[in-house]
Amino acid sequence: MGDGLVQARGLRKRFGEFEAVRGIDVDVAPGEVFGFLGPNGAGKSSTMRMVACVSPRTGGTLQVLGMDPDVDGPRIRARIGVVPQLDNLDAELTVRQNLQVYGRYFGLPKRHVREKAAELMEFAQLADRADEPVEPLSGGMKRRLTIARALVNDPELLLLDEPTTGLDPQARHLLWERLYRLKREGVTQIITTHYMDEAEQLCDRLVVMDGGVIVAEGSPAELIGRHAAREVLELRFAPEDRPPAAAFARLADRVEELPDRLLLSTADGERVQGEVARAGHRPISALVRRATLEDVFLRLTGRTLVD
Ligand SMILES: Nc1ncnc2c1ncn2[C@@H]1O[C@H](COP(=O)(O)OP(=O)(O)OP(=O)(O)O)[C@@H](O)[C@H]1O
Ligand SMILES: [Mg+2]
Repeated sequence: MGDGLVQARGLRKRFGEFEAVRGIDVDVAPGEVFGFLGPNGAGKSSTMRMVACVSPRTGGTLQVLGMDPDVDGPRIRARIGVVPQLDNLDAELTVRQNLQVYGRYFGLPKRHVREKAAELMEFAQLADRADEPVEPLSGGMKRRLTIARALVNDPELLLLDEPTTGLDPQARHLLWERLYRLKREGVTQIITTHYMDEAEQLCDRLVVMDGGVIVAEGSPAELIGRHAAREVLELRFAPEDRPPAAAFARLADRVEELPDRLLLSTADGERVQGEVARAGHRPISALVRRATLEDVFLRLTGRTLVD
């Protein structure tokens, strides 16, 4: 079966008549950070829940740590850490108690759990809130505590469903730094996100998911190299003098029309910007940037990741 920590072939999840995951193949290697990037409803959480052994698959094969979730769910769960999309901390308990109670679920010795909780509160930068209740903590603090809790059993594999959704930029960067630290310690991670910058920052390899299927796979750089031009020129026009996309077809490899701007894909954004001006167009703003996974997604699906 190979030495992948997760191996899925033709994996499916059906809810009644609706199929949320429609036959995906996934291989996650030890030590890597693997991502599922896709918009709302892509099937990311449905996939994560199957890997976490909390939702049975309806088709295909799935191996997690070399075992089948249908047969060995409890044994797998003892060796993985799960951060669900929505925090499910116990609001009545303190920070420390949340960690200790969870540790005791795994049947870990009391003393070990006590030491582990102290270590994880340092990791989550919550040591000064140790004996305070969870409820008044900020969103970022709760997220860090949920991640700390998922590490109580020293998991070989950490599953993070949208780790930073809804957090402010500072809280996100702090979380990214903590996840990077875990990666350096060798913890294999699977992350879902609909933020392309998160996928680019964190993931060694990722799949782009849309409508229950995988539409592309590779490292962030490979995906951008394969599916996007090197640069993008973003043009914004006043609504009354916005030229049709076709007016730029000759200047760029590709032109995408978004509600508020035109995106011109090209190897040389500055050159195209000059040609746009020489052709007599007067955009309100013109910005040259590197192509991103957002451009890859737009190219592959015709839609934007965050709407
Ligand atoms: N328990 C359920 N019963 C019925 N339909 C469901 C159930 N869970 C998910 N779905 C549907 O399956 C599809 C995929 O949902 P899923 O939560 O896996 O998407 P997602 O990629 O995680 O999206 P998001 O970014 O919003 O979290 C959606 O259309 C959703 O409405
Ligand atoms: Mg989800």
